[in-house]
Amino acid sequence: MAATNGTAPTDTLFSPSLISPSVSSALPSGYSIRPLQRGDFDFGFLDVLRVLTHVGDVSKEDFEKRWDEMKAGAGGYHVLVILDGEEKIVGTGALIVERKFIHHLGVVGHIEDIAVSKDQQGKKLGLRIIQALDFVAENTGCYKTILDCSEANEGFYVKCGFKRAALEMAHYY
Ligand code: ACO
Repeated sequence: MAATNGTAPTDTLFSPSLISPSVSSALPSGYSIRPLQRGDFDFGFLDVLRVLTHVGDVSKEDFEKRWDEMKAGAGGYHVLVILDGEEKIVGTGALIVERKFIHHLGVVGHIEDIAVSKDQQGKKLGLRIIQALDFVAENTGCYKTILDCSEANEGFYVKCGFKRAALEMAHYY
C-alpha cells in the first residue's frame, strides 16, 4: 500500500518508507538508495537523465521549482463528464497531467478512463470527450497526450487523431 507525500519529510519527494529494504541491502557495498531530494541538482541528477534523453537547459531554480510542484502534486487530475438531457451522466474521461524533468521540463497528458454508456455509443460522445481532454491538455501546457488502449479501440483513437506510438509493458500487483 503506497503512502502519500504527506508522510514524507520536507526534503524528500516521497516517504523513505517506500524504499524497499531488500533492494537497499542488495546494493553493492557503500551504495545507497533513497527518494529524490530537493538538493539533488547538485548531485548530478540531471546528468544521469541525459544518458536517457534530451533534458535541456534546466537551472537549479527551475529544478527546485519543478520538484516543489511534484511534491505538491500540482495540476494533476482532470475528470470530466457528459450528461444527457435528463441530467444523467452518459460519458466520462480523464486527463492526468504529468510534469517531467526531460524535454525541457516537459508536461505530458495521460488520457485515462474513457467511457460512454452503451446505449449512447455511436453518437460521437467519445470523440467529444477526447476533444475536450485535448483542450485541457493544450491549456495546461502538455506537449503531447498519450494513452493505452486495446486493439479493438485503436480505430476509435485513430479517428480522434491519435497514432500508434509505442508498446505497453506492465507489472500487475
Ligand atoms: N473501432 C473503430 N472505430 C470506432 C470504434 C472502435 N472500437 N468506436 C468508435 N469508432 C468510430 C466511430 O464509428 C466514429 O467514426 P465516424 O466518425 O467515421 O463516424 C468515431 O470512432 C467516433 O465515435 P464515437 O461515436 O465518438 O464513439 P463512442 O461515443 O461510441 O465512444 C468508446 C467510443 C469511448 C470507445 C465507447 O465505445 C466506449 O465507452 N467503449 C467501452 C469503454 C472503452 O473501451 N473505453 C476506452 C478504453 S481506453 C482508455 O480509456 C484510454
